[in-house]
Amino acid sequence: MALYPSAPSALSWCIVGRGAIGLLASARLQLAGYRPELWLKQPQPLQLTFTSIDRQQQQLLLLPQSAACRIQRVFVPVKAFDTASAVAELAPRLSNNAQLVISHNGIIPLSPLLQQLQPEQGLWFLSTSQAAYKPAADQVIHSGEGQSYLARLTTASEDDDNVVAAMTAALGPLTVVADIYPLLWQKLAINAAINPLTALENCRNGQLADPQYQPQIEALVTEVCQVANALGYPMQPANTLAEVYRVIGATASNFSSMQQDLAARRQTEISAICGYVCQQAGLLQLATPANQQMLDRILALTAAS
Ligand SMILES: NC(=O)c1ccc[n+]([C@@H]2O[C@H](COP(=O)([O-])OP(=O)(O)OC[C@H]3O[C@@H](n4cnc5c(N)ncnc54)[C@H](OP(=O)(O)O)[C@@H]3O)[C@@H](O)[C@H]2O)c1
Repeated sequence: MALYPSAPSALSWCIVGRGAIGLLASARLQLAGYRPELWLKQPQPLQLTFTSIDRQQQQLLLLPQSAACRIQRVFVPVKAFDTASAVAELAPRLSNNAQLVISHNGIIPLSPLLQQLQPEQGLWFLSTSQAAYKPAADQVIHSGEGQSYLARLTTASEDDDNVVAAMTAALGPLTVVADIYPLLWQKLAINAAINPLTALENCRNGQLADPQYQPQIEALVTEVCQVANALGYPMQPANTLAEVYRVIGATASNFSSMQQDLAARRQTEISAICGYVCQQAGLLQLATPANQQMLDRILALTAAS
């Protein structure tokens, strides 16, 4: 008997992990008529309580990924530092023209991912400002209404409409863009300015409006803009700084994900944020001391815990 006898349906999606974004996407996909299956470290069914943005609660049963089919479409909403290993684990199970959508904060080098994939297999990036959290392992709450942007990272396939429709159901409203990187660099500037400082100060985002943090925030943002400009993504420091302060005001009562990760002694995404800025700056022979300092301080604290 063939190991992978049946073709997956157009409505089948594999979702990696049982994190907040993965469960939000799974719940919304299932409610829209899709068949999400979870790729788990320990495969088992999950009886999930999903609370939608309008506070409606639903009980859903999510099944683990079936071993019977090749995987045709997969959403990989894991932390930046887990993305490459997740794609490597998935690679032997993917169909020849599988479509993978990765989604995380920060930016990571693509070559380790592309090395795992065949030329006909498509890679996409989804960036979202939808917010979700898990008060318990079997509960997910859609806590903030946002939007998502989706772009291809590799050449086109015939499966584009299916991917766009499913990602709209999962995390829409969704805008398809030709190049995700201008948006990712904008987000990188905001994350570089807010995440490590709130983690180091162990404070809510709003505290960064205090003038004492202004020199550090300005230095971090200016460096990100310099690197982005050198890479061909135009970013003006004054506009970007204004956007950073707008986000600080709009999210004043929130704790950033890095503050939460550091407080819980979990690995942070600093390497995909300030680390990526420093890595790209090194290649361009630019100096980014403010980002380097944030990277070093957060890594030292994570290593010590
Ligand atoms: N939550 C939000 O509101 C939000 C909003 C916008 C963007 N984001 C970004 O989206 C990404 C995901 O966020 P999240 O909050 O959903 O993170 P999360 O809760 O940490 O979820 C990631 C999940 O993936 C699992 N995982 C990692 N590698 C795996 C593998 N190879 N196989 C199976 N499971 C695997 C993790 O398991 P373990 O815990 O066992 O490692 C974890 O349960 C992050 O980059 C985050 O910054 C989040």
